[in-house]
Amino acid sequence: MLTKNIEKALNEQIKLEHESSQIYLSMASWAEERGFEGVASFMYAHSDEEREHMLKLFKFVNERGGHAVVSALTAPPVSFGSLKKMFKTLFDHEVMISKKINDLVDITLQEKDYATHNFLQWYVSEQIEEESLARNILDKINLIGDDKGGLYLFDNDVKMLTVNPPVN
Ligand code: FEO
Repeated sequence: MLTKNIEKALNEQIKLEHESSQIYLSMASWAEERGFEGVASFMYAHSDEEREHMLKLFKFVNERGGHAVVSALTAPPVSFGSLKKMFKTLFDHEVMISKKINDLVDITLQEKDYATHNFLQWYVSEQIEEESLARNILDKINLIGDDKGGLYLFDNDVKMLTVNPPVN
C-alpha cells in the first residue's frame, strides 16, 4: 500500500513523464517541418518511450492501491531555435528528470517504502542511459557546427540511434 505522500510524488512523476512525451512530440513536429526526417523519427520514438515511462508508473500506482491521476499538462514550446538548441533543451530536460527521480527515491527511503524504492531502480538506470545518449548527440552536433553537409549526414545517422525498447 502506498502512503499518501508517495502516491502524490508518483503522480507528480507521472505528469512529468507525460509532459516529456509532449515536449518530444513537439520537437518531432518542429524537426519534420524543417526536413530533418531522421531527427523527427528519433523524436517520435522518444515521445512514445516517455509515454511508456508514464504508463509504467501509472500502472504501478494502481497496482499498489493508489489512484493514478491524469493531470492537465503544460503545453510544450512549438519552436526550438536550431538542432543544437533543441538537443541542448532535451539534455537539460533529462538532467532535470534524473533529479526528480532521485528526489523520489529519497522520499521512498524516508518513508521506508522498499517496494517502491525497488521499482524506481529501473528509472534510475534508464536516466543514466538517457543522459548519456543525449550527451553523445550533443557532442556530435557541436562537432558539426553549422556545416550543412554534416547536418544532413547527422540527420541520417540519428535514425539509427534507438531509444530503448518499449517497457511493460
Ligand atoms: Fe522518462 Fe526521458 O525520462
